[in-house]
Amino acid sequence: MLIKKPNDIAGSEITPHSVYKQRREFMKGAGLLVGGSLLPNLAGAQSGDALKARAPAGLKTSPAAPWLQDKFTSIARAPDVAPYFTDEALTPYEDVTRYNNFYEFGMDKADPSSNSGEFKSDPWSVEIAGEVGKPGVYALEDILKPHDLEERIYRLRCVEAWSMVIPWIGFPLADLIKRFEPTSKAKFIEFETIVDDESMPGIRSRFAIVRWPYREGLRMDEAMNPLTFMAVGLYGEHLPAQNGAPMRLVVPWKYGFKSIKSIVKINFRETMPNTTWVDLQAREYGFYANVNPAVHHPRWRQDMERRLPQTLFDRKVIPTQPFNGYGEQVASLYKGMDLSRYY
Ligand code: MTE
Repeated sequence: MLIKKPNDIAGSEITPHSVYKQRREFMKGAGLLVGGSLLPNLAGAQSGDALKARAPAGLKTSPAAPWLQDKFTSIARAPDVAPYFTDEALTPYEDVTRYNNFYEFGMDKADPSSNSGEFKSDPWSVEIAGEVGKPGVYALEDILKPHDLEERIYRLRCVEAWSMVIPWIGFPLADLIKRFEPTSKAKFIEFETIVDDESMPGIRSRFAIVRWPYREGLRMDEAMNPLTFMAVGLYGEHLPAQNGAPMRLVVPWKYGFKSIKSIVKINFRETMPNTTWVDLQAREYGFYANVNPAVHHPRWRQDMERRLPQTLFDRKVIPTQPFNGYGEQVASLYKGMDLSRYY
């Protein structure tokens, strides 16, 4: 994976801390942002207005399909407790949506937001294939219909050693998996991103290093873990194209490259799938990709991370936690495994 040095982040990509603080103070004052004190704990309540975080007016994404907009009118607010919530400062919406990795739109962090104007996430369908009782090609509306949306605030740690805190909107992947009735042979689950060379300039590029489609996978028990999330939105809005519209995976204890975007295929398999980054450079990127400060990337350390947005005066370099701080929920999945070998 290409890595940019901390000082390669353009100033324009960073919200000045003062502006960010002002906005948070404003949101607190308006009762829109709660650190557990201003609003009663409405966890489980069906009220979009009780969300912990909303996109700033004027910066919202263009309207989604009406049926999807309807789903966003009732979202269960994140509970006030870990692991589905953290009170660490949220990464501002502007940074979450302008500092991206989505190589289908280009290699630079600003490319996905600049180059995704032609991308269409409606209509959308998802193929469910392999070891399942109910294979088929399903309209996204049918995929999402039975799922209530909820807000979750997770840390996202990229293998490039930067991190964010993002308020996602979505539902547990396990709930989706159960509906399609995996057979006893389904030991792994594989995901694929759309390949649309017309709207994705990174795919047309002569310099593309990825063999498309972008592919990722999980072991079935990882996929069924309650932390594993299918996101359809962030900051109370449906996903912008650059963040993986209309539906992407979020696996908070793994490096960000596992969190595949704009999913069009979910394949249940008996054997471990060949994934994009393992395919590109198996010595540097493993199938498991659990956040692990004790196992360094061959070209840089993994025990510290830069929490975005950085400022000139505050580099925000913080220690990286094993499993990105979600060890209590997931360490048991890897009991007895040598994590320096299965990285
Ligand atoms: N999914 C696809 N299809 N293509 C990509 O290039 N990049 C991955 C992941 N999902 C990527 C992808 C990487 S490296 C990271 S860190 C996260 O998306 C970044 O998600 P974000 O841009 O929403 O922060």
